[in-house]
Amino acid sequence: MISRAALKRLVPRLRFGAANLRFKTTSASEDEIGHFQELAPSWWDINGSQRILHLMNNTRLDFIQRNIRQNVKVDYPDTYIPGFQYKAFFPQRVSQEIENDLELKITEKLEKSKFDVLDIGCGGGILAECLARLPITRRVTGIDLTPEVIKVAREHSSKDPVLNGKLEYRLQALEEVEEKYDLVTCFEMLEHVDVPAEILRHAWMKLKPQGFLFLSTINRDLISWFTTIFMGEYVLRVVPVGTHHLNKYIKSSEIKEWFQENEPNTHKVLDAKGVMYYPFNGWAEHDCPDVGNYFMAIKKLD
Ligand SMILES: C[S@@+](CC[C@H](N)C(=O)[O-])C[C@H]1O[C@@H](n2cnc3c(N)ncnc32)[C@H](O)[C@@H]1O
Repeated sequence: MISRAALKRLVPRLRFGAANLRFKTTSASEDEIGHFQELAPSWWDINGSQRILHLMNNTRLDFIQRNIRQNVKVDYPDTYIPGFQYKAFFPQRVSQEIENDLELKITEKLEKSKFDVLDIGCGGGILAECLARLPITRRVTGIDLTPEVIKVAREHSSKDPVLNGKLEYRLQALEEVEEKYDLVTCFEMLEHVDVPAEILRHAWMKLKPQGFLFLSTINRDLISWFTTIFMGEYVLRVVPVGTHHLNKYIKSSEIKEWFQENEPNTHKVLDAKGVMYYPFNGWAEHDCPDVGNYFMAIKKLD
């Protein structure tokens, strides 16, 4: 028998506050599973427990698609790709034509692309279904560890024939996934796990070279406590009380530091945006990813 203390010494310490002391794992705590298990029946009710995720969906799909478009390499020999800030030098008409040409080539290239996607902590499939409907997607695999939400996800997707063969849900831990993907998404999930560094490490391992990792979570700060817990849970009641825990929030700088320390030469942070919920108007991006909720796009370089 190996003692708990000895085991701890064997396990390298991880970042992210309290999680440092826990063991490496991508599994979910019983509390979190119990919580989401209860919310599962109203997952697809747009005015139910996941209303805030339904409202966020278009904003995150825009973020994902914009970042993919901006990072598509156009390698057609007949396309002129300026090596400088052409907009500052050419007349507007000329730079507009260059831009239109590039946009066209990007669209043509994306039309031929077929991305395999892994959605980690997919819940009932609010994001996974939309990702599977994108023309650039070959197949989406959604994984989650809450049995009832996977059941809800399967039932809901079975109602749309377009998703047949394009979307699969698995009750599976991330470390058990064997395939590699072009796109890995992990939205509104990292703030619910005990060891987020392990999720990042395994998510990165599942990504093919040149693949994209998209994530969203919440900065650990007073503003996040005020907006997501005090206002969100207790005053406006947009999410059920007990959904969030401030100590599990992760600063965007911590995600960047993790990549800098663990994948210094193999990653590029493409984009990081703050996102804010405006009651009655929904979610919108802003330029301060260090406050409140945020989205991040990271590319694997080799
Ligand atoms: C707030 S929901 C987000 C669902 C979905 N990503 C979305 O944004 O629409 C968080 C989900 O993460 C799942 N989850 C929590 N810890 C997990 C883990 N360690 N592995 C896989 N899923 C997990 C929960 O079961 C829940 O379905």
